[in-house]
Amino acid sequence: MKTRLIAVLCLLAGGFCVQAQDKTLAPTPPMGWNSWNHFAEKVNGRTIRAQADAMVSSGMKDAGYLYINIDDTWEGKRDEKGFIHPNEKFRDMKGLVDYVHSKGLNLGIYSSPAAKTCAGYEGSLGHEEQDAQTYADWGIDYLKYDWCQSTGTPEQMQAAYTKMRDALKKTGRPIVFSLCQYGWGNVWEWGGSVGGNLWRTTGDIEDNYDSMTRIGFGQSGHEKYAGPGHWNDPDMLEVGNGGMNEDEYRTHLSLWSILAAPLIAGNDLTQMTPFTLDMLTNRDVLAIDQDPLGKQGYPVVQEGPFEVWMKPMQDGSIVVGLFNRSKEQDRMTAKFSHIGLSGRASVRDLWLRKDLGTFDESFSAYVPAHGVVLVRLKTI
Ligand code: GLA
Repeated sequence: MKTRLIAVLCLLAGGFCVQAQDKTLAPTPPMGWNSWNHFAEKVNGRTIRAQADAMVSSGMKDAGYLYINIDDTWEGKRDEKGFIHPNEKFRDMKGLVDYVHSKGLNLGIYSSPAAKTCAGYEGSLGHEEQDAQTYADWGIDYLKYDWCQSTGTPEQMQAAYTKMRDALKKTGRPIVFSLCQYGWGNVWEWGGSVGGNLWRTTGDIEDNYDSMTRIGFGQSGHEKYAGPGHWNDPDMLEVGNGGMNEDEYRTHLSLWSILAAPLIAGNDLTQMTPFTLDMLTNRDVLAIDQDPLGKQGYPVVQEGPFEVWMKPMQDGSIVVGLFNRSKEQDRMTAKFSHIGLSGRASVRDLWLRKDLGTFDESFSAYVPAHGVVLVRLKTI
């Protein structure tokens, strides 16, 4: 009943509901790595150690990627007292957590409010407090809580997430709470009120341009629900998994950064090409995503396959993405009047990492097929 009341109050407040989650846990969108997109059920303890090693040695950690997240398929059986144990792929969870912590990284884990997870492993239904305490005892820092087979009403879903939120709180350990459910109710309207630091807004991403753009460009309209401590999550990154070309991956990371989306890499960090690493660690682009103002960007022009998106930044500058969704290169223009600027502005190209000079009233550029030109503008 209480959850329902909070949800109603959130809706009355225009959906902007931040009272329930711990804002200090994710003041900017979480950055890290998750096992699912590349390894799926093949993940094991050795994989996690190797990814943690690579996160540090590659320079990804220095660029801000701090979470190593184990997704579904780690779960084993419960003992006679109901405590969950990892399966044979993860023999020593506490040892693994300690190892990841020793690298200066955080460890995330996965469960479900249902009896079974999406991949059919043991969920937390009826064991919420016990599981939260187990995670806390292991030293876990992040929980992705995923309800695939939900047949519940939005109120029942909210109650289930609230139950785990309360269980996590009771442990006293700060644990980022990542909600994952899609298709039942508009989670962005109530994700914050049930303690979510982030919540999935879409089905699963696939490593191809159609899937990525359907999800990314489909986020328009959710921007008022995101902010420091509570983020829309359009799913994890596919950068480096091989299904898209360089321009398409640039579109992927540009769009996710404009969206202030969590940046959870989904590739094999031990096998990165120089292009993938350079891209994932581009400080100019990551700074857009991590801007402390925490505004989610939105489209200002949508004409056929041409989209211009903007994101206001804390220092008063504006980030603009010129996205060309067509199969041909084309010249695109961002009029300053469309992005709330007038007069003269300096322009920096964030992928070229180059100042382009000053421009009057508009900025134009050739944009490759399926590509993007990403710039930061500041009036002078
Ligand atoms: C769902 C989620 C994925 C992944 C799998 C694991 O499909 O959306 O991100 O966690 O479950 O089974």
